[in-house]
Amino acid sequence: MIIGVPKEIKEGEKRVGMIPQGVDALVAHGHRVLVEKGAGIGSGFSDDEYREAGATLVQREEDVWAGAEMVVKVKEPLEPEIPLMRPGQILFTYLHLAADRGLTLKLIERRIVAIGYETVQVQDGSLPLLRPMSEIAGRASVLAGGMCLEARYGGRGVLLCGASGVPPAKVVILGAGVVGTNACKVALGIGARVSILDVHPERLSYLHDITQGHIATFISNRMTIGEEIAGADLVIGAVLIPGAHAPKLVTRQMLKRMRPGSAVVDISVDQGGCFETTRPTTHENPTYIEEGIVHYCVTNIPGAFPRTSTFALTNATFPYILQIADKGYRRAMNENEALRKGLNLIDGMVACEAVAEGFGLAFVQDPFSPPSLKIPS
Ligand SMILES: NC(=O)c1ccc[n+]([C@@H]2O[C@H](COP(=O)([O-])OP(=O)(O)OC[C@H]3O[C@@H](n4cnc5c(N)ncnc54)[C@H](O)[C@@H]3O)[C@@H](O)[C@H]2O)c1
Repeated sequence: MIIGVPKEIKEGEKRVGMIPQGVDALVAHGHRVLVEKGAGIGSGFSDDEYREAGATLVQREEDVWAGAEMVVKVKEPLEPEIPLMRPGQILFTYLHLAADRGLTLKLIERRIVAIGYETVQVQDGSLPLLRPMSEIAGRASVLAGGMCLEARYGGRGVLLCGASGVPPAKVVILGAGVVGTNACKVALGIGARVSILDVHPERLSYLHDITQGHIATFISNRMTIGEEIAGADLVIGAVLIPGAHAPKLVTRQMLKRMRPGSAVVDISVDQGGCFETTRPTTHENPTYIEEGIVHYCVTNIPGAFPRTSTFALTNATFPYILQIADKGYRRAMNENEALRKGLNLIDGMVACEAVAEGFGLAFVQDPFSPPSLKIPS
């Protein structure tokens, strides 16, 4: 198969869909990889590294799209990329179609085979191609929070780990999922005092076990949240109700009871945020102060760490890319249920139920599921 890797064109996006190690493995399997010049620069991979791995470097993104049977990207396609697609071409990337009816309709028109990272789902219900970004966001949130507590950002000048004779900061984490767990590990590792809240006791029990009881765990409810955050230096919002707006767990009134110069990092901002005072910010201008509290609400935290994020993302995506290249998408999906769930669009039809329902579009159900086994009576 000919696989294409264009340079991401979304503003500020420095990740790339494939690293030289991926190119090397595909070439060893007999495939050809077209990489747009400069595609890996933002993540620290030179054109020479791709060339040495066996890629064919091409000058323009048009050449990647024109030559490739499968295009591997990071972000959803933008306007200039859409006319470059052709019927039957495979696109493997984050799509987030449910959030964009216009993009969905345009891609339907192009009649591509669109497979979305975010809907690939393994049997326990988890999303293996979203997980790496949640891991990074969770870990980075503690570093961002530590920065917000610095005096120059309006913070109360508290060092997360404290010092000898000076107690460490108190970090409260709302949500003990992938993001919250990773924030917890880093905050604990730095030496902060950590409290974590979730509505699922089993999540708390897991974290309590792996940290050998070195954190305080609480079932999340309004009263406990209020009590815990009142004495916090840093509050990290990491809750998710799948498919829904994040619940507003911290009201303005509750925030007023925190000490001035404390900080909040709302990672759930991409789902609307779990603080009443949240508004989305960017890496260029990441913080603002409201009610005396420093807010950090960047919607794409992994974007600050493109090298780590690219490795983490491609570690997760590559096995699926190789399967599609080796077997063709039909057989690969037929044999891999998780990948089948990633199929969003095919032949001008919607294959993802949530997208079809959300936009009132016709839905083609699981076109590549294996024929069911007939058990003889
Ligand atoms: N800003 C960014 O750059 C960035 C990056 C990655 C993920 N995210 C976002 O972070 C959020 C969390 O993602 P995740 O992967 O950890 O999800 P997850 O499903 O693994 O975890 C969410 C947790 O929130 C808990 N929860 C739900 N309601 C709660 C409540 N009322 N109180 C306490 N806990 C509650 C759930 O039980 C679950 O354990 C999502 O909104 C995700 O989109 C943002």
